Amino acid sequence: MTKKKPASIITNKKIAVYGLGNVGGPLAAAWLRAGANVIGVDVSTKLLTEIRNGESHKKEPFISEIFSTALKNNKLSLTSDGIQASKDSQIKIVAVPVALKNNKIDLSIIITVAQNITRGLKKNDTVIICPSLPPGTTEKIILPILEKSKLKGEKDFCLIYNPERIYEGRALQDIEENYPAIVSGLGKKSTDLAQNLLSLISKKGVLTMSSLATAEAEKLFEGVYRDVNIALANELVDFCKDVGINYWEARKAANSQPYCHLHYPGTGVGGLCIPVYPRFVIEQAAKLGKNMKITEFARKINDDMPIQCVKDAIRLLKNNKKTKNLKIAVLGLGFRGDVTDSRLSPSYAVINEFRKKKLRVSVHDPYILQDDDLPSNVELSSDLGKTIHKADLIFISTDHKQYSKLDESSFSKANKPLLIFDGRNILNKNNFNNSKLLTIGIP
Ligand SMILES: NC(=O)c1ccc[n+]([C@@H]2O[C@H](COP(=O)([O-])OP(=O)(O)OC[C@H]3O[C@@H](n4cnc5c(N)ncnc54)[C@H](O)[C@@H]3O)[C@@H](O)[C@H]2O)c1
Repeated sequence: MTKKKPASIITNKKIAVYGLGNVGGPLAAAWLRAGANVIGVDVSTKLLTEIRNGESHKKEPFISEIFSTALKNNKLSLTSDGIQASKDSQIKIVAVPVALKNNKIDLSIIITVAQNITRGLKKNDTVIICPSLPPGTTEKIILPILEKSKLKGEKDFCLIYNPERIYEGRALQDIEENYPAIVSGLGKKSTDLAQNLLSLISKKGVLTMSSLATAEAEKLFEGVYRDVNIALANELVDFCKDVGINYWEARKAANSQPYCHLHYPGTGVGGLCIPVYPRFVIEQAAKLGKNMKITEFARKINDDMPIQCVKDAIRLLKNNKKTKNLKIAVLGLGFRGDVTDSRLSPSYAVINEFRKKKLRVSVHDPYILQDDDLPSNVELSSDLGKTIHKADLIFISTDHKQYSKLDESSFSKANKPLLIFDGRNILNKNNFNNSKLLTIGIP
């Protein structure tokens, strides 16, 4: 860890980071690198033990090492006690998940954390909210909870919204170097403090928004833009399929025009962000009697992709001599290539769809070694040979980089003819001259 003299606004202050997951872990590390004293707060005792043992955040470079050094130097302490952490800190950063439960926004975790902070909140403290939220949440839901402390927002404590803009796998670099920090404050005092604080960790500077709700909306719009554009790619792929056109070739040429940014199509959209943020917007709009037509339709297209892709893949089996007890090898459980995270991964819907058709499924993932959400008769392995053993169809669901190196010999244990559906266009086609390979976007 680079030794840094802390800037005066964090000298003699403790920063409590609530939630040390994909976002909070790298955030805590960034503040440690800026010379701050950090209290890491997480309800997962397993995660706290992993951090203490230097075994946490395996796919995020530097985090574990930064934590180990900081623990040794007494710059970092760890706890599950959110109330005590609030009492012991002057700056509280909230990085817990706000997700969907039965397709409805679930604020329960962030509300619990806000209640814990309230019970330790002191005059001149600062609260920074990071999770992506429906616009208005920080001011209309979090602020009233914090003010139950009898302290007044802006007058007695500062309230800041600072959405995290990270890509899993390079989160610390994103926080420190790649993006400007977006900030907004409850009033001028909070906003000024937000600019001064965040400029300590963000080399790209700080982009200040005029209201908390605009900053909240900005983050959601990033996700809606991606989701809608992926849906557009998926729709164009469907068109290409019927007309007999190679989408990838057309896309490359179209994107040579500076106003065209056609995205990648795929087996679906997963993770806690892109498929979730449009729902925040759709749900909030519905409460106002509005229908977000494009956003909603894009969600539907992307949600349907696993079913469409399975349908296409199954066509490969049409002329197969073997018709009973067929085995499908699904490659990739992660919601995106090279992540250890499978939350809301479209691979679950892919697996489910094959099982509905009474097909046996086994799953390979190089990074996810155990998963409690898979049905008990679906075997998960990081040994590719085991997963594809006697498989009748290979279905590539996630674009893990290592899949790009596969060739026919990698599938020598699978049944013949070798049938492959590449739902991410990750395979090198030249390596599969003697196979039946169907790639998304290529008729
Ligand atoms: N993951 C991303 O790439 C990403 C990117 C940008 C923004 N975000 C936003 O950040 C939020 C957090 O995402 P994440 O990926 O870090 O989630 P995560 O699940 O990886 O981490 C959240 C952590 O919070 C802990 N936690 C849960 N309840 C708690 C409580 N009451 N007190 C203290 N800790 C608690 C969990 O144990 C977990 O370790 C998301 O809701 C999302 O809006 C995520």
